[in-house]
Amino acid sequence: MPSQFKVQRTDKPFLTDIQTLRQRARLHMQDGPVTDSYKANRETVLKILNEALATEIVCVLRYKRHYFMASGIHSQGVANEFLQHANEEQQHADQIAARIVQLGGQPNFSPEGLTGRSHSEYVEGETLVDMIREDLVAERIAIDTYREVVNFLGNDDPTTRRLMEEILAVEEEHADDLVNILKEMNLRPDKERKPEKIPGRQK
Ligand SMILES: [Fe+2]
Ligand SMILES: [Fe+2]
Repeated sequence: MPSQFKVQRTDKPFLTDIQTLRQRARLHMQDGPVTDSYKANRETVLKILNEALATEIVCVLRYKRHYFMASGIHSQGVANEFLQHANEEQQHADQIAARIVQLGGQPNFSPEGLTGRSHSEYVEGETLVDMIREDLVAERIAIDTYREVVNFLGNDDPTTRRLMEEILAVEEEHADDLVNILKEMNLRPDKERKPEKIPGRQK
């Protein structure tokens, strides 16, 4: 036997042997994709994901409100941006809910306690500029918390980590979009000086 081969055999194997893998896979079939090598604390991951789900739902609701209110004050360009964000937050909510089920958990869609579970807030905003600023704050909160989630998951649950990384990238785009809208508005001081009030909300 060549000596090089002996060295490799005594090293810690990179993969568990195929027989052991097959036996393990059959043992806990009800766990679906969660196998013995899943390293994260599943309960903690499910809790974190349900908080992220609540965050996304609150973001959908806030962006929808902003979309309809901005449409009402004839700011169709900004309204369309709000709608696009709302749709993307809905996709995130769906992806997170699907992952929760894959991990053997239950997605919490209950309206009860929703704002408490969510990291971001539901703020209506008085003016178009208020709405954009509130959305930017919410995006920045999502960015910070999702970044923490990604770091927490590390290599313990790479699939959930990848999902959260993808969502994080979109939240960063959202924040960037909002900053650009604000910048565009600053270029037009007439709008910046006297932001339009939403009809019916003046005190
Ligand atoms: Fe999102
Ligand atoms: Fe977002």
